[in-house]
Amino acid sequence: MTTAEAPAAAQPQRATLPEHGHTRDEIRRMIDEASREDILDFEQRLMAGGTYPAGDDVMEVAKEAFLRFFSTNPLYSSIFKSLAQMERVIVEMTAGLLHGPTATGSVTSGGSESILMGVKIARDRARTLHPEITEPEVIIPFSAHPAFTKGAHYFGFRKVEAPLRPDLNLDVEAYKRLITRNTVLMIGSAPGMTLGQVDPIEELAPLALERNINFHVDSCIGGYFLPFAEMLGYPIPTFDFRVPGVTTISADLHKFGYTAKGASVIMSRDPEIFEYQVFRFGAPHHDPNWYTTPSATGTRPGGAMAAAWAVLQYLGVDGYKRLVGQAMRYMERFKAGINSIPGLQVMGNPAMTVFGYTSTDPALDIFAIAKGLEARGWLVFPDEYPRPAIRFMQSPGHEPYIDAYLADLREVAELVRRGEITSEGGKARYS
Ligand SMILES: Cc1ncc(COP(=O)(O)O)c(C=O)c1O
Repeated sequence: MTTAEAPAAAQPQRATLPEHGHTRDEIRRMIDEASREDILDFEQRLMAGGTYPAGDDVMEVAKEAFLRFFSTNPLYSSIFKSLAQMERVIVEMTAGLLHGPTATGSVTSGGSESILMGVKIARDRARTLHPEITEPEVIIPFSAHPAFTKGAHYFGFRKVEAPLRPDLNLDVEAYKRLITRNTVLMIGSAPGMTLGQVDPIEELAPLALERNINFHVDSCIGGYFLPFAEMLGYPIPTFDFRVPGVTTISADLHKFGYTAKGASVIMSRDPEIFEYQVFRFGAPHHDPNWYTTPSATGTRPGGAMAAAWAVLQYLGVDGYKRLVGQAMRYMERFKAGINSIPGLQVMGNPAMTVFGYTSTDPALDIFAIAKGLEARGWLVFPDEYPRPAIRFMQSPGHEPYIDAYLADLREVAELVRRGEITSEGGKARYS
């Protein structure tokens, strides 16, 4: 039978706007129905990333501020003066944490938008400083987040991929060899998503400075975690504006800042670099700044900005240090538990509570382990780079569940080894 002869698969009915609106009670029931298959106890099931539990009190502070500013919009800064102030405070607090005395920036909708802005800044700055470059290149480590490849695609860069060494650290020598006269942007992560490793930014960023090109540090995960880990005495490689040559840094409030979704920060080393981020549209014969936006969006959610401001004010340095200290302590126990299972190993040298574990034994298919854990109710995030792995992003709120996870992992590994669970070509995913 050819495709043309195949019976048409049943299509879900297309939605139409209801002729008459529903009552509020009906809406509540419809919401219950719509979310019937959602997994709501994701915290207990160790969801890796996506959510960052830090305690009910933190959540309530964020929610209260979010609802209070529910319909507000920072685009109208002359009307919502409070939001303009809050954004300034968030940016300045972040500059302090990242050791950028002249650093400035803006709040964005998330890590990807912050990264896209970092790529745009590099492109537009290079157009001014290096007008001779017509085919700009960006060096993206193999371990970097896909948003950089998206940025290269959106902003017309050729992507050059820097490899990892067999020990899973970034291959600095190979990276250096990839720098050409067309390179306008170099990338490092602090840390990367699966391995949780901080790239050797101190070795690389000065090379960008020598060439007067941009170096973006992706600290979407680490921006509100690593500074406090460093204060607590953990050995964190220097990754921020203290490193000469770092021009822009992305740091996500809605990850380890523990605030509501829809909040990240993109920081530039100084106002001159930040200016390449801003878009200005002038009204004819009138105001050259009639429509000025710092980032990709026009309207922005005031609720997300207010929630971020409120959580930063609520936790303060003490609160973040407490949460980071708690997470770092139980993480050691968690990683030791994984490494004690024969054939499983935490990859590389994670700097914080973000890591992946892999199989070192051909009889132990990691995707079969993922399947076995899923069957026991755990939310598993398999990954394929730098090798087949299961990845984790752990927040303080996950601590009560790791012992049960380790017990299941030990049993599932044994079942996989005996051939009682197989992966049947299971695939990694990021969704
Ligand atoms: C290292 C890193 N950078 C960037 C991002 C993208 O962030 P977002 O999903 O908020 O766009 C992520 C997301 O997990 C990440 O882990």
